[in-house]
Amino acid sequence: MALLELVQQSVIHTSTTPPSRRLRPLRTTPALRAMVRETEINARDFIYPLFVRHGTGRNEIHSMPGIFQLSVAEAVREAESAASLGIPAVILFGIPAEKDPIGLENFADNGIVQQAIRAIKREIPEMVVITDVCMCEYTDHGHCGVINTNNHSSLPEGYVLNDPTLDVIARAALSHAEAGADIVAPSGMIDGMVGTIRTALDYANFEHIPILSYAVKYASAFYGPFREAAESPPKFGDRKTHQMDPANVREALCETAMDVAEGADMLMVKPALPYLDVLYRVRQAYPEMPLVAYNVSGEYSMVKAAAANGWLDECKVVLETLTGIKRAGADLMITYHAKEAARWLNG
Ligand code: PBG
Repeated sequence: MALLELVQQSVIHTSTTPPSRRLRPLRTTPALRAMVRETEINARDFIYPLFVRHGTGRNEIHSMPGIFQLSVAEAVREAESAASLGIPAVILFGIPAEKDPIGLENFADNGIVQQAIRAIKREIPEMVVITDVCMCEYTDHGHCGVINTNNHSSLPEGYVLNDPTLDVIARAALSHAEAGADIVAPSGMIDGMVGTIRTALDYANFEHIPILSYAVKYASAFYGPFREAAESPPKFGDRKTHQMDPANVREALCETAMDVAEGADMLMVKPALPYLDVLYRVRQAYPEMPLVAYNVSGEYSMVKAAAANGWLDECKVVLETLTGIKRAGADLMITYHAKEAARWLNG
C-alpha cells in the first residue's frame, strides 16, 4: 500500500503515540504568532548613516545602490525623510574638500561634517545627530591615525601611532560637539580614545555629550563598499594593527571593559552578522549598557546584489536580518536599510 493511503487511513497515526508536547499550536494563526513573538523591531531601533560632501546634489555610490554622497542640503532632506519614518538618529561621515596627513578638516569649524550637523539640527532639532570620529576619511594616506614617518623610531614606518592620534581625534570630537552633535562615536580602535575624548569634552563643558564607542570593531573585508562611499581606503597596508582579529572574542571583552572603564555611554559591535556571538557575549557581560550593532556596508551590498538578481526577497531578508541582530542583543542598529525597513515595518 502506498504511504499516502496509509496516512489517509490513519494507519500510521493510530499505530504511533501522539507527541507528549506540541509546539505548533501557537504558530497556527498570525494573531497567535504575534502574541508570543519575543523580539520586535521598530523604526525607533534604527540609526541611518549619511555621507556628506562639499558641493551640490547627490551621487549614488556604485557598490551601495540607494545610498548617496550628499551635499549638506541633500543630507538635510535625507534626515527629514528618515525622521518622517520614525527613525530617531543619523550618523554622519564626512568627505573633505582636501586630504592631508592629519586630516585638518576633521576639526575645522566650517568642515563638511560641522556644516551638516548645524544644518540638520537647525531644520530637525529632534533628530539625534551622531558623528563618526575617525581620521581615515580625512587623511591623504587613508589611515585612522597619525602615521610614523620617523625612521629613527623603533616602530615600523607607516605604523598608526597611538598617543599622537588621541590628540587629533579629541580635537575632532570637540569640534563636532561645538557644532551641535548629540553623540560622538570614535571608531578608530585607538587605545585610550574614549578616556581622552571624555576628558576633552568635560574640560570644554560638554560633559552632557555621550560617547558611543565602536568598542569592538574587527578588521573586516565587509567595509569594502563603505571605503568607496567615504573615499577612505588606506593607500598602503591595512588596519590590522588597531582593528581586531576576526578570530577573537575574549579580546572583545577586554575592549569593552576598557571602554566602559574610560566612560563610554554606549557600546558598539561591528560588523554585525559574522559577529552575532560577540554581540551576545557583550550583551551578557554588560546587561546595563546600551548596545549598538553596525550592519555594515558589505552586509548591505550583498543583499542588494542578490535582490537585484531576483535571488532573494529583499524585504523579508532585511527584516529577518535585523530581527536576528536585535535577538542577539542589540538595542539599536546602524543600517543602510533603515529607511526601507522602516517603510516595510510601517507597511
Ligand atoms: C572608520 C569607519 C569605517 C566604517 C565606519 N567607520 C571604515 C573602516 O574602518 O575602514 C565602515 C562602515 C561600513 O562598512 O558600513 N571611519
